[in-house]
Amino acid sequence: MASFLLGFYAIFLTVLFCDGFGAADEIRQRYEELGPCQACKVFVDSFEKGMQRTIYEPTEHSSHRLAIIQQSLCEEPRSKPACLETATQAKPFIEEWWLHSNKAPDIFQHICIEKLEVCCPKHHYGKQCLPCHGDLENVCSGNGKCRGDGTRKGNGTCLCDPGYSGEFCNECFAGYYKSYEDSDHLLCKRCHYSCMGGCRDGSPRDCVACRPGFLFDTDEGCLDINECNDINICTKDEFCLNSKGSYKCMACDRACKGCYGDSPDMCRKCAKGFSKKGDMCIQDREDEEMDQMTVTRYTTYFGLLVAAGVLLPRSSTLSAAVGALVITYIAGAEYYCAINGHATLLDLSLFSV
Ligand SMILES: *[C@@H]1O[C@H](CO)[C@@H](O)[C@H](O)[C@H]1NC(C)=O
Repeated sequence: MASFLLGFYAIFLTVLFCDGFGAADEIRQRYEELGPCQACKVFVDSFEKGMQRTIYEPTEHSSHRLAIIQQSLCEEPRSKPACLETATQAKPFIEEWWLHSNKAPDIFQHICIEKLEVCCPKHHYGKQCLPCHGDLENVCSGNGKCRGDGTRKGNGTCLCDPGYSGEFCNECFAGYYKSYEDSDHLLCKRCHYSCMGGCRDGSPRDCVACRPGFLFDTDEGCLDINECNDINICTKDEFCLNSKGSYKCMACDRACKGCYGDSPDMCRKCAKGFSKKGDMCIQDREDEEMDQMTVTRYTTYFGLLVAAGVLLPRSSTLSAAVGALVITYIAGAEYYCAINGHATLLDLSLFSV
């Protein structure tokens, strides 16, 4: 009973959401995805485009011109829902601004920052539009972004680009080295792949230590170990494939018994049922498996003939029909085998003159 009620409740909720709130939810979701500040930017852009398009209007601040602009707002399909949501919220402020636009010429500043309070000025963040942390002339040392920059979100700390770290992205991340540095620029590059625990520069000679699978050489630095030099590293039916810092054991082709590559021409020896033809190990035509198939085929013929024989005393027309079918089947099967080079009841070469 309880589960029945629960099921009913779930269906009820689904129907309710699909019909009632589905559409509104989707708009809200897209609005959140784009971010309210970004949505406001899109709205302001489309409003400014509308002003460009209606520049011919004789009276600059006429309500007729405003109506034309408002009719063609938010045309970009992807951002349309979020942009229209902003347009609805901004409507009273826009109408007021329209009459006094000379007092606040920057629509973005007036609508998005001051009225709707969804954006902040450049390099400011959060509810109060506080300045981003650090030097505003060189935010995050040019190697990252201030979290929430220009929006009412974030906390003003630096989100560093890959390869950088530190409060102001003025240090290299682990596994990177300083490739250039002056008073306000820092360039970090990734250490050579053979390094572990950092490096002084970009070559395998500059590693602090070598990664597993690499050995230190006094001339060359960290060098890949070729694990495949050890012939016993893989099993008999596998071959070894060396890679940077590691190796893999891969299965041989089924034609091989031991190999040094993955194709049938790279066998050390041929597997049972295969023989060497040139470099290749080729399957023998009439091996045991084939004989077994031939036996199965002949048994089937015999069964069919017995069936035709059993029917003979009952009805001669029926057995004649079945007999004809059986003969056709056998002839077809034998012909197929013959053209594919398998053993047949009759040797085809007898007929080919
Ligand atoms: C700022 O926000 C980021 C990510 O949201 C968080 O990891 C970090 O700890 C925050 N820093 C401070 C000082 O609040």
